This record gives sequence, structure tokens and C-alpha cells, in this order.
Amino acid sequence: MDTYLVTGGAGFIGSHLTEALLAQGHTVVVLDDLSTGDKANLAAVWAHPRLRFVRGSVLDDRLVDELMGRVDAVVHLAAAVGVRLIVEQPLKSFTTNVRGTEHVIASAHRHGRRLLLASTSEIYGKNTGPLTETSDRVLGATSVARWSYSTAKAVDEILALAHHRELGLPVTVVRLFNTVGPRQSPAYGMVIPRLVRQAVAGEPLTVHGDGKQRRCFAHVADVVDALLRLLAHPAANGQIFNVGTAEETSIAELAARVVARAGSRSPVVLVPYDQVYGTGFEDMERRLPDTTRLRELTGWVPRRSLDDILDATIAEASHALRPVEPLGVPGPATEVPTTPSRLLG
Ligand SMILES: NC(=O)c1ccc[n+]([C@@H]2O[C@H](COP(=O)([O-])OP(=O)(O)OC[C@H]3O[C@@H](n4cnc5c(N)ncnc54)[C@H](O)[C@@H]3O)[C@@H](O)[C@H]2O)c1
Repeated sequence: MDTYLVTGGAGFIGSHLTEALLAQGHTVVVLDDLSTGDKANLAAVWAHPRLRFVRGSVLDDRLVDELMGRVDAVVHLAAAVGVRLIVEQPLKSFTTNVRGTEHVIASAHRHGRRLLLASTSEIYGKNTGPLTETSDRVLGATSVARWSYSTAKAVDEILALAHHRELGLPVTVVRLFNTVGPRQSPAYGMVIPRLVRQAVAGEPLTVHGDGKQRRCFAHVADVVDALLRLLAHPAANGQIFNVGTAEETSIAELAARVVARAGSRSPVVLVPYDQVYGTGFEDMERRLPDTTRLRELTGWVPRRSLDDILDATIAEASHALRPVEPLGVPGPATEVPTTPSRLLG
């Protein structure tokens, strides 16, 4: 059994992955600054004897290096995520997503650790697909804040693959498409948690733009399954993999489906992008993954449907209806000094 460092392990995907690694018998060290994550996401495993939690930042290169020395492999999920966060805090987001990843890659190389790096379908920008791993990137102007996320993740990928080619770093890049399910926060621009909470609360469902934009949503449990399969596969080293489903829906159809499945009476209203994200915001019409490469290597196919996802998210929202919180509430993690040796025991 191995010891994994999971950066961003108190986040949405990270907490599900941490649970799955523990269930497989591994030891997990979570490094998270709790900026968008929450210890509550790890509640089910908080007292687990093979879980260690370190509150700190991937921007702290000494901390990253100390932890890296104690593990066998690292899954790097920590990032500034969500269109709203990227648009409202572009500088902090870009720095986290480039410099933080640089530290993780350099440290993984120094210690000879296997690395799984989370990238994103935002890499493809406005390319309407179907998107294979070699599809073109089609981006707007650098002045449009949302493309900075795509660019930061592209820098991460380039850095990781250059370390593989020139220095032999065992690294796999996963381009995650829209991933949803329980514990995803509605606070940073994620559409399903927001629409579901609006429906459950009896509020109008706000669809951005004309609602004709098409997306595919994967259940987080299927995504975690893909990550575990790739971690177990040495042939995944040095490669990029799309992870996502091909079940497409327009956002207007999605909102109607949420209303129906939640048994809600809420109306659906269209809100222009400018009102939500300011002038000049750009979105893409369609985002459809081709996951042939992942399926051929690992046999992975998604097992949960969009209705499964909606039912799970509606059930969670019905049990604990929480208001959408304002952005950027938690202070910087460096305010809480961490002594890794002590926390690691
Ligand atoms: N959810 C999706 O649909 C999706 C799609 C594409 C890519 N991804 C990628 O998956 C990863 C996880 O995303 P998520 O959806 O779970 O989001 P999330 O916000 O729930 O998780 C990110 C975690 O990273 C932590 N974090 C942020 N900055 C940090 C820092 N400087 N140091 C340490 N921890 C820090 C946050 O507190 C949070 O727990 C990200 O890399 C993201 O780019 C997610």
C-alpha cells in the first residue's frame, strides 16, 4: 500500500478521491489551504487512522517539499477553480494555478515521485469538438479573464510534460470536463449546484446567456474511478487523458430537468452574461469530450447518468440547504501556522 499526497484534498473532487484511496488501503496526506475546500468534506474519514490533514498552501514550496519526502505519489488537485472565482480574483487565481503547480512538479521531480496532475477542458477554449487530447485550443483575448484559467492550466501541462520528456518525471495529466455531484460548492459559478439549490429553495433558476450552450456532466464517482485506474497504470505516464461523459444537454434543458426532478415550482429565467460576470465575458457553445484514449488504456466508461447526478445533488441540497456564500470569505492559510511534523505525528 502506498502513501499519497493529495493537494486540494478537502475540496470537492479531492475529498471523494481521498475517501476512495483510503478505502483501497492507502495512506493519504491532504494538503489544503481551505480557500474553497472545507474540512467538513472529509467528515466521513476525518478520524481515519491513515488520513493526515495539513492546512497549508501549495505556494509554500518548503512545506510541499517536506510533505513530498514522506509520500510515494502525489495527486495535484489544488487550484483556484470556478468561473466566478477566476473572473473576480484573476491575479490570485493565476498565481495559485501556475506557481503552486510549479512547486509541486519541481518537488515531485526532486523526490522521484509519481504525479497525477489535474488539468481541465477549459484548455480547449471555444473549440466546439468533439474534443480529443490533440484538438486545437481556441482562445479569446488575454484581457478576458476566464481565458487566464485555461492558460495557467496549459502552462502546468507544458511544464509537466517537459519534465517527463527531459527529466523522466512519471506524470499523467487528466483534463477533467464538468464534474459534479455531492459536496460541490455553488459559490464559485458551478451550474448544477446553483440550479439545484435554487429549485429546492423555490427560487427562480437563473440560466446565464440564452441557455443554448451545451455541456456534458460527469458524476464525481466516475471521475474518481478514472483517476484511480490511471494511477494504477504505468502506461499512463507521459500522457494526457480526457475524463468526462458524452451525455449532452443544453443549460436551458438542464434547468427544466432540475425543476422536474426536484418537484419544484420555480420558474427558469435567463440572465445576460454581462449582468453576472461584467462586460466582455465569453462562453463556449459546446464542450463534448472524446474519451477513447482513456477507455482503450483502462477500460473506463462512466456508469452514472445525468439523472443520477441530479438526484444525488437534489437529495444533498434538500437535506442541508445552505445559502450561496459570498466569495473569498476564508483568510489566507498562512495565518494559521502549520508544523507538518507535528500534524503528521
Ligand atoms: N469540478 C470540475 O468540474 C473540474 C473541471 C475541470 C478541472 N477541475 C480541476 O479539478 C481540481 C479540483 O477541483 P474541484 O472541483 O474539486 O474544486 P475545489 O475548489 O472543490 O477544490 C480545490 C481545492 O484546492 C484547495 N486549494 C486552492 N488553492 C490552494 C492552495 N494554494 N494550496 C492548497 N490548497 C488549495 C481548495 O481549498 C480546495 O479544497 C482542480 O485542479 C480543477 O482545476 C475540476
